[in-house]
Amino acid sequence: MNTTDNLIPLPRHVTPLDGQVFTLQPTARIIAEGAARTAAGQLQLLLQRGTGFELPIATHSSSGDISLELVETLDGGPEAYGLTVTDDAIRLTAQAPAGFFNAVQTLRQLFPASVEQPLTPHGAPHATPDAGTWVIPGVVIHDAPRFQYRGLMLDVARSFFTVEEVKEQIDVMGQFKLNALHLHLTDDQAWRIEIQPPADNPSGLDYGNLTAVGGAVNHPGTGLGPGRTGFYTQEDFKDIQRYAAARNVLVVPEIDLPGHVNAALAAIPQLNPDGRPQPMNTTGDVGYSTLDAGLPVTYEFVREVLGQLASITTGPYLHIGGDEALVTGHDNYVTMVREFARIGAETGKTVVGWNEYAEVDLPDGAVVQYWHGGFDPVVEKAGAGSPVLMSPAATTYLDQKYDPGSPIGLSWVEGGPFTWAEYYDWDPVQGGLAEHQVLGVEGPLWTETVRGNRQAYWLQYPRAVSLAEVAWSSRPARDLDGFRRRLGTLGERLSRQGVPFQEAPGVQWSARPSDPFADTMGTNSDEYGTIEA
Ligand code: ACM
Repeated sequence: MNTTDNLIPLPRHVTPLDGQVFTLQPTARIIAEGAARTAAGQLQLLLQRGTGFELPIATHSSSGDISLELVETLDGGPEAYGLTVTDDAIRLTAQAPAGFFNAVQTLRQLFPASVEQPLTPHGAPHATPDAGTWVIPGVVIHDAPRFQYRGLMLDVARSFFTVEEVKEQIDVMGQFKLNALHLHLTDDQAWRIEIQPPADNPSGLDYGNLTAVGGAVNHPGTGLGPGRTGFYTQEDFKDIQRYAAARNVLVVPEIDLPGHVNAALAAIPQLNPDGRPQPMNTTGDVGYSTLDAGLPVTYEFVREVLGQLASITTGPYLHIGGDEALVTGHDNYVTMVREFARIGAETGKTVVGWNEYAEVDLPDGAVVQYWHGGFDPVVEKAGAGSPVLMSPAATTYLDQKYDPGSPIGLSWVEGGPFTWAEYYDWDPVQGGLAEHQVLGVEGPLWTETVRGNRQAYWLQYPRAVSLAEVAWSSRPARDLDGFRRRLGTLGERLSRQGVPFQEAPGVQWSARPSDPFADTMGTNSDEYGTIEA
C-alpha cells in the first residue's frame, strides 16, 4: 500500500486515519456533476488506463465510489480542496474546477505508482496488475497553495516545441500543481506566433513574413539533435490554451521587446533605420538587436502584434520581455518600454516584464519578473503595487547544467552546480519583499542546447518538482530530507510515465529513468558551453 507521506508538493494538512483503507473495486463509479465534471473525466481516464476498470461517471453515490462534491466555500480560494479516504468511500471537495483538478492529482499520488502509464497515448501500456492492487490509505487532507502563480517557462524560440509536445509538458507539470506556462515566443533566433495581415496597415508591413522567415530558421543542431523549425498558428495557440485550461494551467505569451528582436528585424525591413532587413541569426548570441525608438513604425508594429496576441489570449497576462536590451541605450529603452507597457495595458491585459523594466514608469499592477541583477528597483515597484514573480537564475533556471559534465545545459550563472537541493532550499519572499507582494515562482527553460521534450524533461526534472513545492507548500513545512525521500519515491512514477529525469546523486531513486540521449550522438558542441543567458 502506498502511504500518505509520499505526497509532492506537500499538502497543508494531512491527517492519517489509522486503521482505515480503501480498496478500489472493479464495480466502483465516479460521482460528479457540473464544475467537477472535467476533473472527473480526467480521473476516470487515468484510472481506466491504470487499472483496466470501467469506472463509469454517475450522479448518486453508494459505498465504494469516488465522489467529487462541489462546496460553497473552502478556506484557501478556488484552488483549495479537501480529500477524505475511508474504508468505504473517497470524497473530493472543492469550490471550483481548479480545486477538483488539484484534488485529483493528490488522489493519483495516493494510488500505488503502478497506476501510472506512459503519458503519450502512443506509448504501449504497462501490464495492469490485478484487482487486489488498488489499496490506498485512510486520510483527511485539507490543502491550498501558498502562491497563486506556480509556473514554468519554455523557450520555444531557440528550439521549437510542437503543439503535441507543449501539451505533454502541461500533462507532466500539472501533476505537481504547477499552474502557469510562460511561452517565450520570439527572440533573435526565431518568431513562433502567427500575426495575421491587419485590415488597417498604414506602413504596409508584411506580418506574414514574421513566421515565414522567423519560423523557418534552422537554428543549428547541437551534437544531441538537429535544429528545429516551426511556429504556432493562432488556432494552434488557442488549442494549447484550451488544453491547458482544462488542466488548470494558464498560458502566458511573451513577445520580447525592445531587444531580442533580430527575427523581426530580418522579417520586416521597415523596422530597421536603413530599411534593410537583418540577416537571420544562426548562433546563440544575445543582446545585440533593438527596435528603434525614433521610428514611428516601431509603435505601429508593436500595437498590431500585442493587439492580436491579446485578442487570442484567454489569460490575464501579456509578457513584453524587456531583458538584455544591451544596445538600445537608456533613454531609448525607457521611451519604448514605457510606451509598449502602455500599449499592452490598453489591450486589457496585465503586462509582465523581466526585472530590467522595473526602471521604467509602468502601468498600475504591472508584474515584475525578477531573474538577475539589482533587487532594489523590484522592491520599489512592489511597494508601488507591482506583484513580483520570482525567477532568480541561481535557484530557478532549469536550463543550467547540473555539473560541468552535463551533456546539455548552460552554465553562466555563478555559484553552481544547481541541483534539486539548491532549487528547494530558498524562499521566494526575500530581499525586503512581503509575502503578499510575491505573485509566485517560475522556472524558465532556455533552449539553446535543448532539442525536444525528452532533453527538456531531463533538465526540468527533478528541479521543477522542487520549485513546485517551494511555490505550493508553506516555508515551515518544507524539509530537505523529507523532500529527498519523497523525490526518490517519485522516480517510479516518472519512469512509468516515460519522463526522463536527472538521477540526482544523494537520492535513493525507486526506479531508473530512460536515457534522454539514447537516440542521439555525442555531447553538446563547445559553441554552446559558454553561452550567456
Ligand atoms: C533572461 O534570462 N534573459 C531573462
